[in-house]
Amino acid sequence: MLRMKRLMRCDATAPVMRHTAVLWTNACFRSILAAAALCLATASLAPYAAAQTAAIAVNQAVSPSNAQLASPAIEARVEQLLRQMTLEEKIGQLVQYNDTGDVSSIQTSSAPATAEKPGAMAVQNPTTGNRVNAMQLAAAGQLGSMLNTIGAERTNTYQHLAVEKSRLHIPLLFGADVIHGFRTIYPVPLGLAASFDPKLVTELSHMSAEEATTAGIRWFYSPMVDISRDARWGRSVEGAGEDPYLGAAMARAYIHGYQGDDLSKPGSVAASVKHFAAYGAAEAGREYNTTDMSEITLRQIYLPPYQAAVEAGAATVMSAFNSLNGVPASANPFLLSKILRGEWGFNGFVVSDYTAVMELIHHGIALDAATATRKAVTAGVDVDMMSHFYDTQLPELVRTGQVSMEVVDEAVRRVLRVKLATGVFEHPYAEGAEVTAAVAGHRLLVRKAAEESFVLLQNNKLGSGEPLLPLSPASQRIALIGPLADDAAEMMGAWSGAPNVRDIISLKQALTERVRQTGGALRYAQGTGIADSSQAGFPEAIQTARAADVVILAMGESGRMSGEAGSRANLDLPGNQQQLLEAVAATGKPIVLLVFSGRPLVLDWAAQHIPAIMEVWFPGTEAGHAIANVLFGDVSPSGKLPMSFPRAVGQEPLYYNQFPTGRPPVGIDLSKPPTGEERFLSRYIDIPNSALFPFGYGLSYSNFSYRDVKVSKTSIPLSQVLVNRKAPLLEATATVTNTGKRMATEVVQCYVRNLGASIEQPVRSLKGFERITLAPGESRQVHFSLGFKELSFFNLDNSPSMEATHYTAWIGGSSLASQDASFEVTNSTSAADSPLAVILQ
Ligand code: BGC
Repeated sequence: MLRMKRLMRCDATAPVMRHTAVLWTNACFRSILAAAALCLATASLAPYAAAQTAAIAVNQAVSPSNAQLASPAIEARVEQLLRQMTLEEKIGQLVQYNDTGDVSSIQTSSAPATAEKPGAMAVQNPTTGNRVNAMQLAAAGQLGSMLNTIGAERTNTYQHLAVEKSRLHIPLLFGADVIHGFRTIYPVPLGLAASFDPKLVTELSHMSAEEATTAGIRWFYSPMVDISRDARWGRSVEGAGEDPYLGAAMARAYIHGYQGDDLSKPGSVAASVKHFAAYGAAEAGREYNTTDMSEITLRQIYLPPYQAAVEAGAATVMSAFNSLNGVPASANPFLLSKILRGEWGFNGFVVSDYTAVMELIHHGIALDAATATRKAVTAGVDVDMMSHFYDTQLPELVRTGQVSMEVVDEAVRRVLRVKLATGVFEHPYAEGAEVTAAVAGHRLLVRKAAEESFVLLQNNKLGSGEPLLPLSPASQRIALIGPLADDAAEMMGAWSGAPNVRDIISLKQALTERVRQTGGALRYAQGTGIADSSQAGFPEAIQTARAADVVILAMGESGRMSGEAGSRANLDLPGNQQQLLEAVAATGKPIVLLVFSGRPLVLDWAAQHIPAIMEVWFPGTEAGHAIANVLFGDVSPSGKLPMSFPRAVGQEPLYYNQFPTGRPPVGIDLSKPPTGEERFLSRYIDIPNSALFPFGYGLSYSNFSYRDVKVSKTSIPLSQVLVNRKAPLLEATATVTNTGKRMATEVVQCYVRNLGASIEQPVRSLKGFERITLAPGESRQVHFSLGFKELSFFNLDNSPSMEATHYTAWIGGSSLASQDASFEVTNSTSAADSPLAVILQ
């Protein structure tokens, strides 16, 4: 469900620190290709000024990332409005509040509420305890946007105040956390990433935008594109996992779906790419924790998905909670001004994460609200979500010259551009028949998405010589056991829009329908709860299993165990589910274990004892039907893991594209404790280094073979790279054959390693993927185009570069692909093998 937020308190009684004002001149985005200049005016150097100084060397002429936002027609209207605005009205555009929901039903029951109407929403200032009234602010033109205020009636109520009562009639923008569906829910983003199907993601995103706009929402706080290499981090569920290439592909797909080719079209919403930046690298996987990394890792691993989203035209970006190398992301000019606006040409607006401006005080880089405000706004945070700092602090900061009017004006321009582009001035109110329940016509699409998201982790052969899955459609006695088997609400996972639980198909419901059609019998026993310690339900569950031909166990996490504030230090099945699993396994019945989770779990025991295991994440509205379709083989599973599944939590962070070490444990059996010299290798003494199920891995009901892995050139002169960095340099190809007995889809993956560069490179990195569907016996040649984008790396100057080095390309069905082909990039000017860096900016 869309969450209600609790506000945090902090003490802000310390004296105002003297300021360091950073002025980000606005010329860059008012005229299309004008250069940006950023200058730092230091009244006195606060200890943090050094970090800000580093961020101001921005003077590049880059194209605006979103052409629509740069349109001269919009620009003219922005300037016309700006000229008429008072300081309070300007600041109002930079302020965002939610409503509590509790009182809104009274307010919105019939005629639009008025600012004076009793019961208007009150929000508590987290610092001072002051209360604000969003209705009054809207009517006074001192509120720019609202979050998680949904429903045509509610949004229209506020909008009427803004449009009809405020002096300049500037409409509000309603933003919401619509992350994987609004009323018709599709799999959580991590599950969706397992589909490796960006086209599908675009369709789903557009579908959710179409549903939500009928409820007045024109702005989604999505996609979350934070790379996540640590399964302990609960928000892994919201992103596309550990890989930057997959993450970038998914990021683009979401933006295209949400925004379409025109933000003003009905059914389009502005996207907010979040959380900028590197939030997913929270130390120890602990929520809101600090991140610290080299600039090369930042640029090479963490930034590509954000950049892809910005290049795809994302209208807004959300600044993150975390600090990066000591500077909180929500007051980080290096991220927000130098990289985002300076290098990438981002011309939308930046909204802070929820109370992130206030949290600068907790981070210890501001002793009071005024300093936090100054640091955030001058670094490039345009809109203050819920801190109640911009509206309370900016007037005085501007009046005293601590923040220049230009900074405020530029932030206001950015907000107005997005509002004008989305067409809310022309169409301020929710339009069309409001979608209030799952849409029948959308069910097929979300079911397909769920089916594509499932990852078959194990499917061992039984005594018959056949694998356990798919289950025979012939009548048989099925035992359905486990806490996730009949819990419709839990099928939604974290951040699930605004679904109605009665729309959701549980697994029990779907299997009941199926046995009714095909014959057979279904018996259900819950066995235990998700996090229970009582074993009272075990005997019934064991009895149910004993009486069956096959057991389906539905186990895993609750939706709330991942998502925001859902970090876990243990990655096993919660509560006493492992004990139940072992007790049911002891019956000797064939078991299919379905794992519901928002992250990789440790499934080591299950992998050794349970013949069939399928990761189903949180599948959404059509959960039950989708799972049944795959269990019974109507659809063959095709999902591949977007994150590595560890053997033990101590392996985290665990990811396939790791750097090599000087002591690789090659040719050693790591499942045995070391003897002698084998000890002095990069390894654990108690478990193998490898993932239990690695990135890109996933089985099918068919089999695929790979052959003829080739590259179109074995040698490329470095000078050719210089000619055109956009042109493809070579192709890697492979022939893939469906060697099984049924039509099935395979995600063909291409990985690359670069050896011999001036900086060590990952042992392999994904550089292409394609979903192909093949009939039994059918073969297809698959092509991957490799160019500078795929083959370059960030050098010691933090610039993308290529050198005369050796490359290996693998093509296969997972990150363990074993068939490869090699090529060289040669130094065209001399035969020397010392690398010549070609730095292309
Ligand atoms: C989350 C964001 C979310 C925002 C608004 C924050 O706590 O980190 O992802 O968009 O709240 O609900």
